[in-house]
Amino acid sequence: MSQYIETAIEIAHEAGALLERYFLHRVRYELKGESDLVTEADKASEKLVVERLKAAFPDHSIVGEEGGGQETGSPYRWYVDPLDGTTNFAHGYPVFNVTLGLEKDGEMIAGVVYDPDRQELFAAEKGAGSFMNGRRIHVSPVDKLRDSLMCTGFPNKDRHTSINIYFYHQLAMTSHGVRRSGSAAVDLANVACGRLEGFWEFGLNPWDLAAGKLLVAEAGGMVTDMKGGPHSMPSESIAATNGVIHPETLALFEEIFSGKLRNPLPVLRPID
Ligand code: IPD
Ligand code: CA
Ligand code: CA
Repeated sequence: MSQYIETAIEIAHEAGALLERYFLHRVRYELKGESDLVTEADKASEKLVVERLKAAFPDHSIVGEEGGGQETGSPYRWYVDPLDGTTNFAHGYPVFNVTLGLEKDGEMIAGVVYDPDRQELFAAEKGAGSFMNGRRIHVSPVDKLRDSLMCTGFPNKDRHTSINIYFYHQLAMTSHGVRRSGSAAVDLANVACGRLEGFWEFGLNPWDLAAGKLLVAEAGGMVTDMKGGPHSMPSESIAATNGVIHPETLALFEEIFSGKLRNPLPVLRPID
């Protein structure tokens, strides 16, 4: 393990323990936008993570969701989501994590996702594989969308402009089902360890998916945008699968983008 991943794991454990303490006492939330929540725990976790990263790697750039961090011009850049799944967290729903991803010259080289409630620590390093609590993980071998469990997420901002409900419906009708956990980094980790065959979402920020996209790739999966192009950061969308169902999933996405709905939405009739 490199010093980067070792340090990231240590910091994620510390920040995860801090989140868990707040979680047990239920925190108040504020609104950053119409439905974009932030809590004291998001801020305290980011403060801790950024302080620790600065102490360990003073010359690295750091981008934190809550505005912490520093721009140093270094080829190394950390993306930090101090609490991914804030809406769940604020409601006492135990699906959330802290996640840190390290990019060098625009390429992800290390990433960690820590879910303190389940005590699951996912870690990946470029070229060295993906691990959960120290054990190597792999994507699932399922080879058909109709036998797959899928997952997606919806934005917290400008919700009325999201077209994802069409994708949700078509994919739900074509697979075993579509989950919506409320925590994108956990979703990607679950693709990496084979609990889910695929995940997609529009409009995520780099800190939501930096570590998760490396976890999926290093576990043998595939990550592109939803049109099949390379996934860059930032990107309009992400599609992460076990690789086997990727072509079939992208073909279905393409149909939906072109306005063709294989499974029309049911007609809504008033019920009396
Ligand atoms: C959110 C979660 C959620 C996703 C949203 C994200 P946050 O992150 O990852 O699953 O659907 O788009 O904004 O705000 O809880 O850090
Ligand atoms: Ca997030
Ligand atoms: Ca967050």
